Amino acid sequence: MKSFKVFWAFSFIVYHAFFVKVDGAKRLVPALYVFGDSSVDAGNNNNLITHAKANVPPNGIDFNNRATGRFTNGKTFADLIAIKLGLPLQPPYLGISKSERYQEINGINYASGACGILNDSRDGECLSLDKQIEYFTSTVVNDLPKHKHFKSKDKLKHHLSKSIYLISVGSNDYFLNYLKPEIRTYKNMNPEEFADYLLDQLSSKIKTIYNLGARKFVVGTVNQIGCSPNLYCNETINQMVKPCSDKLLMKVQEMEKKFSGSMFVSANGFNFFNKIKNDPKKYGFINIFKSCIQQGLPCTNRKDYYFWDFGHITEAALKIYANECFSGSKMCFPDVKKLAHTHL
Ligand SMILES: *[C@@H]1O[C@H](CO)[C@@H](O)[C@H](O)[C@H]1NC(C)=O
Ligand SMILES: *[C@@H]1O[C@H](CO)[C@@H](O)[C@H](O)[C@H]1NC(C)=O
Repeated sequence: MKSFKVFWAFSFIVYHAFFVKVDGAKRLVPALYVFGDSSVDAGNNNNLITHAKANVPPNGIDFNNRATGRFTNGKTFADLIAIKLGLPLQPPYLGISKSERYQEINGINYASGACGILNDSRDGECLSLDKQIEYFTSTVVNDLPKHKHFKSKDKLKHHLSKSIYLISVGSNDYFLNYLKPEIRTYKNMNPEEFADYLLDQLSSKIKTIYNLGARKFVVGTVNQIGCSPNLYCNETINQMVKPCSDKLLMKVQEMEKKFSGSMFVSANGFNFFNKIKNDPKKYGFINIFKSCIQQGLPCTNRKDYYFWDFGHITEAALKIYANECFSGSKMCFPDVKKLAHTHL
């Protein structure tokens, strides 16, 4: 327990350092709230009973050499988007002491590795999307109103409606659920039907976030999990998850229509990998199928790799993705910069 406290004390120093660094940058939105799986977990799983923990080296080797619980060598996609928005990095909800939660006005990260959109997509203890939203509800209802900036209800409403909500989840609903032969629950659904079911579930969970005052959303779901290094780019698996990627844009556009005054960005990690696959050299990659980590040791040339470990992506690849999502490319549609600047 003691080493745990020391660890978090250190994390706060790291966050503080980032905060100071970006303090001068123009802040485009009040806060970023992050939900999802290991693609954006910033250390919530450090506090849970699970094998899905990343607070051991070589994770974080390019994060000031700190294994904070991020499942990559450096910053996550959520971190990189936060920086582009002129915000400090969001701390993991379970890493903040109860009495200090009300002070986190730059946003909080609720994401948890090895969980999915569905409650029954999990491996060990993790925060299901429902649980993450329950914690967010507590942030809005119990914590933020204690802050001096939000003494008036209108101020809090303004904060929540201008902030961005990044949700990156779905790969585990395939990895740990639909594609697992021993799980029979969804076997009667074909890939199209399962994708529709998943996206409907996601939509109803996002509605709860919307009902609390959120308006600006970035939603990402599956990656090309068939290409994870331990699956040797199995196209059969990619074809099974592809409907979820194909239907994402239409689904978020449907949500935008249904949830009045909202705006949605669809972030398509599946298509992003296609782009990289088609021309790895253009993006500076030499190896896009192999894991950078081999026998527990990280590669030295981490910028040459797309995959960090058995399934997570290097910071080098995430930086390209975040840059493309933030402005210009169709990987995120519309782009996050536009989302930040739009007055709803
Ligand atoms: C998931 O679990 C939560 C809380 O345990 C519950 O409220 C919700 O209805 C469940 N959702 C599904 C789809 O089972
Ligand atoms: C690809 O995955 C499918 C489904 O899990 C499996 O049946 C098949 O054997 C795999 N193909 C290869 C080449 O590994």
